[in-house]
Amino acid sequence: MSPTDPVAPAMDGVTVDLADKFATFDDHWRPRIAAQLNGQDVRLVKVQGVFPWHSHPDAEEMFLVWRGVFRIELRDRTVTLTPGQFFVVPRGLEHRTAADDEAEVLIFEPSEVVNTGDAPTSAFTAPSGLTV
Ligand code: NI
Repeated sequence: MSPTDPVAPAMDGVTVDLADKFATFDDHWRPRIAAQLNGQDVRLVKVQGVFPWHSHPDAEEMFLVWRGVFRIELRDRTVTLTPGQFFVVPRGLEHRTAADDEAEVLIFEPSEVVNTGDAPTSAFTAPSGLTV
């Protein structure tokens, strides 16, 4: 988003209730911006299934699990996260995310990051600027 875009939710002094926010959408792999600060987005996403392999050459990506069991698969190992746990994927490192059953996850990353990174645009590529 550019500075001329509408101000994202949570940037006007309101308290964000994660359970309430997650209750407002049902689709998977479509991150919503819940707040923006210092060039970063706080995105909420529901996931189920397996996401394509990709990397982000210019950005770290942090995943914090709110509900469910969430996997971050790396080429040499798999990280499994449960609610209250987070992991930072180093920039440039190939990864794909997955969940057998639906999980709810917060993502912290620069606002310009596209969810599918350097992978070809696909049905998994989320539209930018969705808010919640
Ligand atoms: Ni990624």
